[in-house]
Amino acid sequence: MTTQSKAKDYSIYFQPPSLSDAKKRGKEDITVHYDFSIPEELRELGRDKYYLIQTYGCQMNEHDTETIKGLLEGLGYRATEDRRQADIILLNTCAVRENAEDKVFGELGHLKHLKTEKPSLLLGVCGCMSQEEATVNRILKKHPFVDLIFGTHNIHRLPFLVKEAMFSKEMVIEVWSKEGDIIENLPKKREGLKAWVNIMYGCDKFCTYCIVPYTRGKERSRRPEDVIAEVRELARQGYKEVMLLGQNVNAYGKDFEDLEYRFGDLMDDIRKIDIPRVRFTTSHPRDFDDHLIEVLAQKGNLMEHIHLPVQSGSNEVLKRMSRKYTREQYLELVAKIKAAIPDVVLTSDFIVGFPGETEEQFEETVALVREVGYDFAFTFIYSPREGTPAAGMEDTVPQDVKSRRLRRLNDVLSENMKRSNEKLLGQTVEVFVEGVSKNNDRVLAGRTRTNKLVHFEGPEELVGRLVQVHITDAPTFYIKGDWVQQAVVQ
Ligand code: SAH
Ligand code: SF4
Ligand code: F3S
Repeated sequence: MTTQSKAKDYSIYFQPPSLSDAKKRGKEDITVHYDFSIPEELRELGRDKYYLIQTYGCQMNEHDTETIKGLLEGLGYRATEDRRQADIILLNTCAVRENAEDKVFGELGHLKHLKTEKPSLLLGVCGCMSQEEATVNRILKKHPFVDLIFGTHNIHRLPFLVKEAMFSKEMVIEVWSKEGDIIENLPKKREGLKAWVNIMYGCDKFCTYCIVPYTRGKERSRRPEDVIAEVRELARQGYKEVMLLGQNVNAYGKDFEDLEYRFGDLMDDIRKIDIPRVRFTTSHPRDFDDHLIEVLAQKGNLMEHIHLPVQSGSNEVLKRMSRKYTREQYLELVAKIKAAIPDVVLTSDFIVGFPGETEEQFEETVALVREVGYDFAFTFIYSPREGTPAAGMEDTVPQDVKSRRLRRLNDVLSENMKRSNEKLLGQTVEVFVEGVSKNNDRVLAGRTRTNKLVHFEGPEELVGRLVQVHITDAPTFYIKGDWVQQAVVQ
């Protein structure tokens, strides 16, 4: 469907989520561009002006925000935390569940007042919600004061879109329904101690509940030499940890037509780079091959933590979710991983209350949690997403049953977590110090190799360093210990 917007010069091409259309995804070549730069005449556009970005959703979105910040600073804008000082406010949105979308619409309601007080303020919506036709129509209708909407495939167009929005009286909308090419060399403003690195974009899995394949387009892998060069550069800059990002990182390389090079090969090359910690998220059980396990088992800078979302422990439900593996295949994979990496920590995502989920099927999930012994998981109540196949399935599970299942699952997961944390009592573990605790400024917070949160007392100078901590206490959601002073590792 093509909608012509009121905005002059801009056509918006939308494809409402459609499984049949999306599955027709071609293998058309993706071109990688290395020649991005901000045109000279736009570099003063944001001079003496301030930006503020609010980010929702996953790490992919957080990382996109770093790119957006880089682009805005390239236009001369500076960062502010104060909404009243901001000349441009962008909401980088998430569409994965209804409550994520509700938050954004609520926020737009608040921002309307700011816009009335300061008409020169530019308000923009970007990220995954912008890729949905229904969302854009709702903004056009109910929040016409928004100045700019752009999607996930055309972030690099931001400099031009900001200029257009500044001078246009109409809402500027540019959303590409077809995924764009890969644009290398976009500026990025990295603020955290950990550096995120995209290794691929998009998702071709089409789990029946999920909107991501529609909002992020088809799978496209960055070239290995570009990923490796970026990780090397981050190591040179002194970063101690990188997080490799993709919706389905172990599908990496499947789309290369000229190269037999997969995620295992990439990890094997990154393993040789002198950076202390490398993590990745998210891996899909279906594409987790033996070579990858072999490489991860060599550890070194590859952490013994794998986020391996299972979603459900019931074959019936897995089938209706179109996860493309059975409980037995998943357990076989877990057994292989544990045999190769005995101290591995596994974490997962779960959806409860999927359409038609019976009490027995839910109990199969609980049993799987016990059997695998996950240390942590993100748990969600199923949220229908318009246009996805599951949204058309009959939703038979009452709301209170869904809530009860969520609580029960969380209780079982907490038991697991407590048990596994207690195993660390008396041990000395390597901790990457990430910051000062929110509640007590004498307490530092960091992560073990297995991604467990550790609190201990120590001087603030340790933030950003790797230290040894002797574990003394294991409350459920974190562990406590004493800094082993003589042993600052790096
Ligand atoms: N690509 C990742 C996850 C992306 S979305 C993967 O496949 O593991 C993150 C999590 O959100 C999913 O793992 C799933 O548990 C949850 N999720 C996705 N769509 C959902 C929906 N419609 N309702 C509830 N939870 C959902
Ligand atoms: Fe969504 Fe499934 Fe793709 Fe993950 S693998 S992003 S859950 S469709
Ligand atoms: Fe949300 Fe988009 Fe990430 S839908 S979870 S921000 S890929």
